[in-house]
Amino acid sequence: MNRKLFSLFFLVFSFNSLIINAQTLWLDETQVSRFESGWGQTKANLSVDGNNLKVGGRLYKRGVGTHATGKVLFKVFGNAVSFNALVGVDDEAGDTASVEFFVLGDTKVLWKSGVLKKGDSARRVNVSLKGIERVGLLVTDAGDGIDYDHADWLEARIEYTGKTPEMARIKAPKPYILTPPAPDRPRINYPRVTGASPGKPFLFRIPVTGKQPLTFSVTNLPQGLTLDNQTGIITGVIEKPGNFTVLVKVTNAVGKDSAAFRINTGPLLALSPPMGWNSWNCWGLSVDQDKVKAAANAMISKGLVNHGWTYINIDDGWEAPARNASGEIMANGKFPDMKDLANFIHQNGLKIGIYSSPGEKTCGGFLGSFGHESQDARTWSDWGIDYLKYDWCSYSDKVKGRSLLELKNPYYIMRDALLKTNRAFVFSLCQYGMGNVWEWGASVGGNCWRTTGDISDNWKSMAGIGFSQLAAAPFTSPGHWNDPDMLVVGKVGWGPGLHQTQLTPDEQYTHISLWSLLSAPLLIGCDMSQLDDFTLNLLTNDEVIAVNQDPRAAPAKRASYDNENEVYVKDMEDGTKVVGFFFTRPDASGPAAEFQWVDEVKPQKITVSWAQLGLEGEYKARDLWRQKDLGVVYEKFVAEVPWHGCMLIRLSPLKK
Ligand code: GLA
Repeated sequence: MNRKLFSLFFLVFSFNSLIINAQTLWLDETQVSRFESGWGQTKANLSVDGNNLKVGGRLYKRGVGTHATGKVLFKVFGNAVSFNALVGVDDEAGDTASVEFFVLGDTKVLWKSGVLKKGDSARRVNVSLKGIERVGLLVTDAGDGIDYDHADWLEARIEYTGKTPEMARIKAPKPYILTPPAPDRPRINYPRVTGASPGKPFLFRIPVTGKQPLTFSVTNLPQGLTLDNQTGIITGVIEKPGNFTVLVKVTNAVGKDSAAFRINTGPLLALSPPMGWNSWNCWGLSVDQDKVKAAANAMISKGLVNHGWTYINIDDGWEAPARNASGEIMANGKFPDMKDLANFIHQNGLKIGIYSSPGEKTCGGFLGSFGHESQDARTWSDWGIDYLKYDWCSYSDKVKGRSLLELKNPYYIMRDALLKTNRAFVFSLCQYGMGNVWEWGASVGGNCWRTTGDISDNWKSMAGIGFSQLAAAPFTSPGHWNDPDMLVVGKVGWGPGLHQTQLTPDEQYTHISLWSLLSAPLLIGCDMSQLDDFTLNLLTNDEVIAVNQDPRAAPAKRASYDNENEVYVKDMEDGTKVVGFFFTRPDASGPAAEFQWVDEVKPQKITVSWAQLGLEGEYKARDLWRQKDLGVVYEKFVAEVPWHGCMLIRLSPLKK
């Protein structure tokens, strides 16, 4: 008994003495620039806007000013005693600001503030960190978007003993290149099929890699078309409907290649998913003519055009505030000459896209096409436009509800207007998937339709969208594509400031593989003039692009699934199957998902059986990212896959 009492006394005594010896790590004395912040940069002893810290009318001398979604993870090695702070919305924030603060320890929520709004007095946090290895500090947008969410951790500190807490590196894993460069000899790439509208201008640049100069020749070119034998650009007008198979031959100093190429002239365009660039994910509303030209130039100079990349699409932000006296829509001062821009793009064998909304205003608050649909379609046709993204947005003001008729109507109107012009337009519907648009997008003339809200450059958004497309998948067919939104690789930022995508290299391989299996439009969303080697390599693997561009347009199916991984399979036109293995296991769920709680997740072996793939017999396996044969396989395939990464395999039946 006495002994027990003594031990208890000793324990209490030693614990207290530990606390007495505890040291303090003030948050504002750490490297706050490394805190993640949803907007701006986290600052020490200042708000995110650089003002004195002020919450609920009270000034605070020290603390950290950040912005939702804001986060930082500390390794505390089981030595920490407590975390103390006051938290709240900074008074500089807009009136609608609302945030929620969380303190997490080893994936568990230890404390949360509840929703705090502008004007609320600061709330006190005092959490024990006993036994905790890692502490996550998180400010969320409280579910209503991050606008104006200026958030302060005031007088914030970690009490600890022993080893000083360290900020866990929000690791930026090194990019690694998988795909070998294209060979010097000519290689005809994809797409190898295109649609043409009878009686309307036709333009197609045959995508070929190989040492320059290349010389092109074709046999069986439809009447009305001519080929530039130096560039491989085919132009002209085909008057009559019909399907043509053209034999393309390309030679250079080191070799030659030939391939059949189909031109189907009729009602359908975009016979394979559109590939190109769109200004939105990098430049947002700050897009201008020079930036668009720079994208077109990079498409050529970096050789993307040789891999099928074609469209240069201007998103929102090009429109003048008012129409001219005859009611025509005009470009604003950032686009001095649209016709000239379109010519420039066409001369390079590329195509140009534009953006509008069926409402009075676009999503960015610029002028929409409501009431001027035919006039706008004619204007774009006069300029030489090839592609229209038509974004619902303020059209909500024009309808009472969301009946199918109401959802379809604005798209019918614009389809008819486009068809009456002198040009062939790829028609891209953007209404975020309302009313299961994939079920009826084709019936209103859509060539592609967004199936979701806007993507952003993180795993939660990209994987959340990418792995939830299976219901829509069966509705793809040549000329009709589900659009899970644009690519978030390279330097993105929604303008004018840019940052490197927050997706890890493995996540980016997943992004491109998944979009390829899903036959999704591939629209690069980054600043093309800053394409790094990794991103360029990621976007120019012709065997992966071939999966995306396959003319059969077979829907991707899920062959197997559990909490940790998914296997997708797609049937190709030539009878092969492409199988994607994805190690998707989320690290944690809820607020804990915002952090990486371990330094390294070991790769996982994912097995798929022939029964799951609907196969029998022996197959040759090829790793598409590495462009490497893996030998003959039967009964099953086992892929070793990095966390959040993937392996993409093509299985070809062994010829007997
Ligand atoms: C919406 C669309 C985006 C982009 C913007 C432009 O958010 O979904 O892709 O076009 O509008 O304002």
